Amino acid sequence: MKNAAWKWIVLVAPFVMLLPEPAAAAELELGTDAQQKAGKVVYERYCSQCHGTEGDGKGYAASHLRPRPRDFTSGKFKIRTTPSGALPTDDDLRRVIRDGMPYTTMIGWPNLSDQDVTNVIYYIKTFTKDFKNRDYYAQPIAIPEPPPHDADSAKKGREVYLQMECHRCHGDQGRADGASAPSLVNDAGEPILPADLTKRWTFRGGPARRDIYRTFSTGLNGTPMPSYADSLTDTQRWQLVDYVYSLGAADTPNYAERVVSRSIADDLDMTKGEALFDGAEGAFLPLFGQIVEPGRAFHPNATGIEVKAVHNREHIAFLLRWNDMRADRTGENSPALEAPETTETVEEAASQASSTEESDPFADAVEPEVAGDATDDFFSDDGSAETASGGEAGFSDAVAVQFPAALPDGIRLPYFIFGDPDNPVDIWFADLAKPAPQRFVGRGSRSVAPGNPDGLEMTASYDAGVWSVIFKRKRRQEDAMAIEGGQWYPVAFSVWDGLSGDRGNKRALTRWYYIYVEPAETVGPLRPMAKAAVATFGIEIVLIALIRRKHKNGVSIPPTNP
Ligand code: HEC
Ligand code: HEC
Repeated sequence: MKNAAWKWIVLVAPFVMLLPEPAAAAELELGTDAQQKAGKVVYERYCSQCHGTEGDGKGYAASHLRPRPRDFTSGKFKIRTTPSGALPTDDDLRRVIRDGMPYTTMIGWPNLSDQDVTNVIYYIKTFTKDFKNRDYYAQPIAIPEPPPHDADSAKKGREVYLQMECHRCHGDQGRADGASAPSLVNDAGEPILPADLTKRWTFRGGPARRDIYRTFSTGLNGTPMPSYADSLTDTQRWQLVDYVYSLGAADTPNYAERVVSRSIADDLDMTKGEALFDGAEGAFLPLFGQIVEPGRAFHPNATGIEVKAVHNREHIAFLLRWNDMRADRTGENSPALEAPETTETVEEAASQASSTEESDPFADAVEPEVAGDATDDFFSDDGSAETASGGEAGFSDAVAVQFPAALPDGIRLPYFIFGDPDNPVDIWFADLAKPAPQRFVGRGSRSVAPGNPDGLEMTASYDAGVWSVIFKRKRRQEDAMAIEGGQWYPVAFSVWDGLSGDRGNKRALTRWYYIYVEPAETVGPLRPMAKAAVATFGIEIVLIALIRRKHKNGVSIPPTNP
C-alpha cells in the first residue's frame, strides 16, 4: 500500500478490536413497540430523505452528499463519549440530533419535542442488531472539568502532537495538509479529509475544549481518526487541547462583510511579500462550491479565503491566503477551460462504490449561498478519489480576483459567475503552475476570453498548507475600471483546487463583496483644509504687509491684534 493511512489502520485497528468492558448493569434502552412506531413516523418525515427508509444511508438526497448520511446499519457513530468501537449513549445521539454536525448536511433539529427525539433514537436503533448486543455497550469516559487555557501547556501540547503523529494527517500547522491527508478513506472506502484544526468551528463534535478532549480520547468510529485512550495521560490531553486551541483564533469563522484597502505612502514592493500588507485589515470570506452551472463543484476543498489589500497613489495590491492540503504546481488551469458537464456523485468519486442514484434532486435547486452555509461540506475530497482512482490529473491550483469590467451604473452587478454579456467582468488570474499572471474578460461562463495582462504582477508561495498569492496592478489603466480613493467597488474571488480536478467553472467562489479604497492621506479631508488655511494665511500676511506699508505712508488702520 503506497499510502501511510494503512500504517495507521494497522496501528489503530488493535485498539478498535479491543472492545471495552461491557457496562455491567446497562439496561438496553430500546423503547416499546409504540415508541419505535412513533419514532418511525418522525424518521420518515425528517430523516429518511438522507438516511434512507432502510437506514442504510441511501436516501434519495444522498448521492451528492459528502460525508454521506450515516448508514445506521453499520452501527458506527462518530460523536461518542464511549470508548472506541462502542455504541454511543442515548445522550450522545440526542446531542447530535439536537445540535447537528457542523459543515455537513446533518443539520440540528432543535424544534423536535423531547419525546420525538427519544422515539426517533429508539427507531434508529432498530436498523442494526448491535444495539441488542450488550458487548457493544460501554460506560462513557469521564471528562474532567477543563482547566483554563495556558500558553505553556500549549507548547507542551505541540510536542505531544508531534509525538502522537497527529501531523501525519492534520499537518504540521494543523491545516489538514499532512502527508497522509490526500489518501485517507473511511470504513466505507470513501475519501475523507482530516479536520483543519485551524478552523475548529468545522468540528463535527463541537469546538469546546471538552469536545476536543473527547474526540481524541474516544476517536471517531468508522473514520481514520484514532482513539488515543491508552497512549495519553490526562495532563497530556489538556496540553493537546491547548495546542489545538492555539492553532485557531476563534470558535466561529467571523466572516467579514467587506474588504478595506489600506492607503500607504510607500512603493508597493512585491519582494516584501506578506509584510507589504502589515497593518491592513484581513477579511476572511466564505467560499462556496459553484453548483449553479455545469462544471459543478459539490465538495470544494477550500471553504474560506483571507483577503488583504493595500494601495498607494499608483498601484493596488491584494494578498490572498487559503488552506490547501497539497500544492499542485504542475499541469494547467484557466477560467476558460471546459469543465465536465456531468455532476459528480459520491459513487463516481469513491472507487469501490457503484452509482445507484439516477439524478440528483438538489442539483439545480440549491443556491450556492445555501449550499455553502450550514450545509457546506467541508471535509470533502474529490481529489483523493481522483488521485486514488488514477482519474483526472494535470490540473494546477489557481486563484482569481474578479471586478466588473466597468463601474456598474445603478445597483445592477454583473452575474457573479464570470459576468454576463451586458456586464462583463475583469478577471485577474494566477495559474499557480505558471510564473506570470493572466487576465480574462468574462461575459458569462461560456464566454471567458483572454485579456491584456500588461501591468498585472503576481507572486505566489505555498508553506505548511497555505497558499499565499499577491496580485498588483495600476489603479488606473486604459482597459480597466479605475480604482479611486474614497470609493466602494464590487469584487469577488475564486479558488481552483488542482487535486480535486477543479478547472473552468468547477471551482470554489465567493459572492460579490465590496472593497473600500481608503482615500490617500494626501487627499484626506484634513489635508485640503490645512492647505487652504495655509494659503489664506499667506494671503493675509501679504495683505497686512501691504497695508502696513501704506500705514507707514500715512494711511491709518486699526491694529489687527488688539
Ligand atoms: C439533509 C440530509 C440529512 C437529514 C435530513 C438528516 N441527516 Fe442525519 N446525517 C446526515 C449526514 C450527512 C450525516 C453524517 C455526517 C458525518 O459523517 O460527519 C448524518 C449523521 C447522523 C447521525 C450520526 C451521528 C454520529 O455521531 O455519527 C445521526 C444519529 C443522525 N444523522 C440522525 C438523524 C436524524 C434523527 C435525522 C432526522 C431527525 C437526520 N439525521 C436527518 C444527513 C442528514
Ligand atoms: C490517520 C489520520 C489521523 C490521525 C493520525 C489523527 N487524526 Fe484527527 N482526524 C482525522 C480525520 C480523517 C478526521 C475527520 C473525521 C471526519 O470527518 O469525521 C479527524 C478529526 C479530528 C478532529 C475534529 C473532530 C470533530 O469533531 O470533527 C480533531 C480535533 C482531531 N482530529 C484531532 C486529532 C489529534 C489531536 C490527533 C493526534 C493526537 C489526531 N487528530 C490524529 C484523521 C486523523
